[in-house]
Amino acid sequence: MELRTLRDDVYRRPLATALDRLGIGPGWTCVDVGAGGGDVSVALAEIVGHEGRVYAVDSDPLARDEVAQAAGSHSQVLGITQAGEDLRLPEEVDLAFCRFLLLHVADPSRVLNRMASAVRQGGWVVVQEPVTSAGRIAGDPFAMPIAKHPDVGALLPSLVRAAGLEIIDAWAEAPAGAGPGPVADYIEFLTEVDPGDDPVILPPLVTVVAQRPQS
Ligand SMILES: C[S@@+](CC[C@H](N)C(=O)[O-])C[C@H]1O[C@@H](n2cnc3c(N)ncnc32)[C@H](O)[C@@H]1O
Repeated sequence: MELRTLRDDVYRRPLATALDRLGIGPGWTCVDVGAGGGDVSVALAEIVGHEGRVYAVDSDPLARDEVAQAAGSHSQVLGITQAGEDLRLPEEVDLAFCRFLLLHVADPSRVLNRMASAVRQGGWVVVQEPVTSAGRIAGDPFAMPIAKHPDVGALLPSLVRAAGLEIIDAWAEAPAGAGPGPVADYIEFLTEVDPGDDPVILPPLVTVVAQRPQS
């Protein structure tokens, strides 16, 4: 099973809750920064419909092909190869979104500032990032040595405020399980080790739902 499918499965609930919170609907314009394989971009495209638009931005040029494949007939998804630090779109958007991105970038504040500038006044910024070390396998903390800021989720509310955004809602949510199921499958995919019957608490995903103030 592909990682993006598993991730969509285990972390789908915080995504659905966040999108419900916005009242997003047909015709919205969105950007998904660090879109990767395009799971979130496609979920957004299904909501905004063909009258809307979803810019799927990723610094890795290979992501564009993956997104195009995932998007299929959703021609409202437009793949762009661009770093979040240099985010520039042809129009202001209603929603700027990122998930599992800021832990990998050198300067999360810089990317958040660009996202804040990309939305219209009164528009939305939604950020979902993990607190990796708060996850547990058999009681032991998770580690992610390849990430630059594995615990960036723990700083998210203050980073979002510092970007000049007004926080509307914020929370943390962690999928958990023991024995066979999507959580064990996800761990096995990430680590190539089956956790067996050990209890697993995946890294909590901190969600911040924020708005660009009207000036
Ligand atoms: C862990 S994946 C997350 C994919 C997707 N957001 C999700 O939640 O399934 C991180 C993605 O961020 C991209 N990325 C890393 N640094 C970036 C940057 N500075 N600007 C834009 N994209 C970046 C990577 O290429 C990768 O596709």
